[in-house]
Amino acid sequence: MNYPFWDIPILGSGWVIGIIAIFHVMISQFAVGGGFYLPLAERKAMRIADLETRIDWLAQLVSYSKFFLILTGVFGTISGVGIWFAIGLTHPEATSTLIHNFVFGWAIEWVFFIVELTTAAVYYYTWNRIDPKLHLTVGWVYAGASFCTLVIINGILSFMLTPGDAWLAVAGTGHEAFKFWNAFFNPTYWPSLFLRTCVCTSLAGVWALISASRIDGDRQPALKTALVKWSVKWLVPSFVATPFLMIWYLFMVPASQRALLTLGIDTIGAGTFSTVTRIALIIIVTSATIVGVAYYLAYRNPVEFNLSHALAVLLLALIATASGEYAREMLRKPYVIGRWMFSNGVRVPYVARINSEGYLAHTNWVWNGSTTSYSRGEAIYRGECGSCHTLNGYRPLAQLLAGRDSANIGNFITMLHDYKPDSPYRRFMPPMVGVKQDVDDLTNFLNAQVNPPAPAKVLTANK
Ligand code: HEC
Repeated sequence: MNYPFWDIPILGSGWVIGIIAIFHVMISQFAVGGGFYLPLAERKAMRIADLETRIDWLAQLVSYSKFFLILTGVFGTISGVGIWFAIGLTHPEATSTLIHNFVFGWAIEWVFFIVELTTAAVYYYTWNRIDPKLHLTVGWVYAGASFCTLVIINGILSFMLTPGDAWLAVAGTGHEAFKFWNAFFNPTYWPSLFLRTCVCTSLAGVWALISASRIDGDRQPALKTALVKWSVKWLVPSFVATPFLMIWYLFMVPASQRALLTLGIDTIGAGTFSTVTRIALIIIVTSATIVGVAYYLAYRNPVEFNLSHALAVLLLALIATASGEYAREMLRKPYVIGRWMFSNGVRVPYVARINSEGYLAHTNWVWNGSTTSYSRGEAIYRGECGSCHTLNGYRPLAQLLAGRDSANIGNFITMLHDYKPDSPYRRFMPPMVGVKQDVDDLTNFLNAQVNPPAPAKVLTANK
């Protein structure tokens, strides 16, 4: 059965997930990286011989851990729930497949969430109230639990790009659960885990710079220098390792998907670079700028480093993170679950059946009687195209099809339907599935958007 599509005008439903997810990643990966930053900083502080300096460091860490608790505990958790809400509405089919496969993975994930949230609160509220060694241990328990949340969610996220041959062999048979571990430790699991761990480490540094930039450089120059310099160092590992990890990651992605890197997929006047390649360039340029800003503004002049500098670094990190997640999404096209389910929820092995029975044969959402909620053509558009296109906003079909007449639009849809092996659209679009009637209904609906019927002549009444 196909579900009615959640139609978000202008933005498209994909971006609803995208925006929430990018926001969530910025915070949740900080929750992991910061989880290591805090106990390491605390341990470093405890080893400072000079009592006054040690007290300054610790006071700064107390206020930083409050910021950390609020940011991760409030915004991280709310946005995490927001992702569930959005994917359930936007991608019921894919969400259902993920839940069926990974329900125990998520159950374990939630156990770690509870440990994570509890220890973050205990860590903050027990500063100077319990034995310092025990306090540090609480910090390490937090770090371990939050890293485990990444270890688990990474299996599910990377699965969507590369489910792996073992799982694909049993997909749809009801025996998927026996391949849980193959699906979990899928081909991109390890490179993705290392990449994300690097991002976590850098985000710990980036957010710590926000906090360190607010130390008054005139009053506490030594403290500010020490903390700014130490935080900058957290950016280093990822800038060394990320390029290699990205190559490893891409190497594990099926060649058909990797081809998107070299294909000029932004259709009209695309030039030579594909979207994925251009996004990769943005990541490289923003990352290089972060290194520059961090080195010249923070490392070289720590006392002068102020909040707007730190916010600039955060903004660049946001662009790099958003680009990274967007590139991963693009790489996955035309699938939501690699080689198994297309982005519009159609399962690959069901294509032939839908082509003989019709797309709307099993839907409950179109009534052919008088109480139609939407026309057959619109229902097909929403179901088959709406996950990636809008009519007039993001990837607008009205514009992409502009200039074509009804016959021409019909030819295009037929081409998408026939899905010949040499069709360039195969790389990023699923086939249009359904019977001849469906092709015609969709054509008529889209034609009415592109070439709206001329308004009827108004007849003057008193002639
Ligand atoms: C997996 C996501 C996805 C789905 C589902 C999808 N498309 Fe696309 N489509 C794309 C992408 C990506 C592009 C290239 C975007 C661009 O050029 O901005 C594209 C481009 C197009 C173009 C422009 C082609 C050209 O050569 O100029 C048309 C027309 C189009 N799609 C129609 C459709 C129709 C009709 C459907 C539903 C039957 C559909 N698409 C479903 C992702 C998708």
